[in-house]
Amino acid sequence: MDDTRGLAEYYDDLSRFVLWRRALTMHKAFAATPSLTQWLGRRMSAFTIDKLLDVGCGFGVPLAELRPVGEAHGLTISAFQKDAAERIHRGTPNLKFFTGSYEDPLPDIYDAMICIESLVFASDLHSAVSNLARHLTPGGRLFVVEDVRVGRKESRFEAPYLEGFRLERIYRDSEFESAFECAGLALEQKIDLTPRVSMGRSRSLPLKTLALGGLRRIAPTKRWANVISAYWGGSFLERLYAEGSFSYHYYQLRASAT
Ligand SMILES: C[S@@+](CC[C@H](N)C(=O)[O-])C[C@H]1O[C@@H](n2cnc3c(N)ncnc32)[C@H](O)[C@@H]1O
Repeated sequence: MDDTRGLAEYYDDLSRFVLWRRALTMHKAFAATPSLTQWLGRRMSAFTIDKLLDVGCGFGVPLAELRPVGEAHGLTISAFQKDAAERIHRGTPNLKFFTGSYEDPLPDIYDAMICIESLVFASDLHSAVSNLARHLTPGGRLFVVEDVRVGRKESRFEAPYLEGFRLERIYRDSEFESAFECAGLALEQKIDLTPRVSMGRSRSLPLKTLALGGLRRIAPTKRWANVISAYWGGSFLERLYAEGSFSYHYYQLRASAT
């Protein structure tokens, strides 16, 4: 992948800060138990998975929790995340982390893959999903949890969300479905997880975007600018959720048996 957006460095900087805050996951929290990973684990337990890939694995915590009987690999674009994941899970057997992009050919074939809030960063969703599908065993499963654009109304919050998150573009629910179909993946289940997500109070969001926007302008270094931009972009994503323009979707896909 040609990293013209500086995504690897952006994720290195953000991850350093997230880890300093002692957070170990980088996805939305559910408001009540089960947690997102527990919920996903229950879905995945219906399948025999010997070799699992976490596509965009963060610090490897979801992967460690969902670890199958066999091998589990975590792919991340960030070298900092990979090193941190190796440190955090040292001694855990059959867990391996590597850096690279899911937009490039992968070194292995997997029975199943999970993608939690990572596919939105694709520069071309169709080709990224097709690439992943080519590395699934026949009949293998892809489990995707993602922020997806829904509804038709134009929103002024899209541009700052794109900028803050370094996204190439925003993908709609229909584009996810079409990317899956073009990659030969059959949609087995789609569930709207939005009602489960713990959201900030929408009345305080304008103040939050304003404050983070101000901090972003006075960020003393590029590293801080990356961190504040991520939180600033995230506050606009919260506003997009608050106005109903985004949903948190679970897609369960099956690769063809041949
Ligand atoms: C929002 S974080 C989610 C991390 C993790 N899935 C979790 O739930 O904690 C997005 C992840 O996607 C990864 N990522 C973004 N673009 C990527 C790419 N092109 N190839 C591989 N990983 C990528 C980042 O490095 C990061 O680990």
